[in-house]
Amino acid sequence: MDFKLTEEQEVLRKMVKDFAEKELKPNAARIDKSHEFPVDNVKKAAELGLMGVAVPEQWGGAGMDYVSYAIAIEEVSRACATTGVILSVNNSLVCDPLKTFGNDMQKEKFLIPLASGRKIGCFGLTEPNAGTDAANQSTTAVRKGDEYIINGTKNFITNGSVADTAIFFAITDRSKGSKGISCFAIEKGTPGFRAGKEEDKLGICASACSELVFENVRIPAANRIGAEGEGFKIAMYTLDGGRIGIAAQAVGIARAAEEEAVAYSKQRVQFGQPISSFQGIQWMLAEMHLKLEAARLLTFNAAWARQHKDRCSVESAMAKLFAAEAATKITHDAIQIHGGYGYVKEYPVERFYRDARITEIYEGTNEVQKMVIASSLLK
Ligand code: CAA
Repeated sequence: MDFKLTEEQEVLRKMVKDFAEKELKPNAARIDKSHEFPVDNVKKAAELGLMGVAVPEQWGGAGMDYVSYAIAIEEVSRACATTGVILSVNNSLVCDPLKTFGNDMQKEKFLIPLASGRKIGCFGLTEPNAGTDAANQSTTAVRKGDEYIINGTKNFITNGSVADTAIFFAITDRSKGSKGISCFAIEKGTPGFRAGKEEDKLGICASACSELVFENVRIPAANRIGAEGEGFKIAMYTLDGGRIGIAAQAVGIARAAEEEAVAYSKQRVQFGQPISSFQGIQWMLAEMHLKLEAARLLTFNAAWARQHKDRCSVESAMAKLFAAEAATKITHDAIQIHGGYGYVKEYPVERFYRDARITEIYEGTNEVQKMVIASSLLK
């Protein structure tokens, strides 16, 4: 077993770290406050190949592996967690299913512009009554000749209102339960298709998060990804990859919080000495670091499994669950170490705390990850 990153991965880490420090970090607090979608961040990230890290170059991507993808999302999220999720959704939830299940025509039409970052994508699975119970879809796709007619509403869709292309799921045969769900691609501007209500969130404030509304929308049958009825499996397979991206996002946020906590503890003087000299603070820092390292190892393990195994559901679930809980605890403790200064917006740790919280919810709550892990033990 070799824990060392390859030379290519090390070069990527340095390149993304430098980019994130220079281009993303300086604006992170501002866009958190303004809630302004960071178009420039996405454009610059696209120039570096970060919109399709693990997509072959032939299809517009950077042609790297999933560990490289996890490294990129960690580095981006350390500087700006909002940008982290925007990129993660485009990479894992949009490019990945097109790469794996799309035909060459769909790859040409949808994947190349998305992986190269000329376009941005979103993933429409969640509905008001289909959150954790993702198979309980209401959106319908009725076949009429060479078209499908779509009706329904998706909600909480990251990138929803800014996306050029959406990968979405709809029922094609209600009698078949989860095996009656199919996957489709749709482009912005299709008549009857629009973004709905935009959410005002606790954290990752500048990422767009909206409804997608379909009112008698006609799309070509050629936009169906995979076979009819294959949609639920495509969604679950896709989320196995997406959860690695969110685990990496959590690791990035946690690392930023740890770095701030260490720096602050060395410069904050109380009772005549830096607070870092107190054992109570040292133990908190040690616990933070332990959790951070374990979270990263689980994340790399899941990314490796995504690259080399047919299915990585359990590895992904463990990585996301552990990393999300770690990020919540580490950002919580980073505020504690800052005391009152940690609670005010002048210092970044309160933003990290708000940003970390969603990693326990989206792409499957902590409880969903436990369901996935437990079901693998009990089958
Ligand atoms: N890969 C391939 N197939 C899979 C699979 C996977 N990872 N997981 C399940 N399947 C297959 C199963 O094998 C089964 O097929 P068979 O009947 O042929 O064996 C079929 O799918 C149904 O599986 P389950 O019975 O396990 O399905 P379930 O209805 O009990 O659901 C669940 C299980 C784990 C709770 C699932 O519904 C789930 O993951 N829910 C959470 C949804 C989620 O993560 N949503 C996130 C939305 S996107 C988002 O958040 C983006 C964002 O904002 C950033």
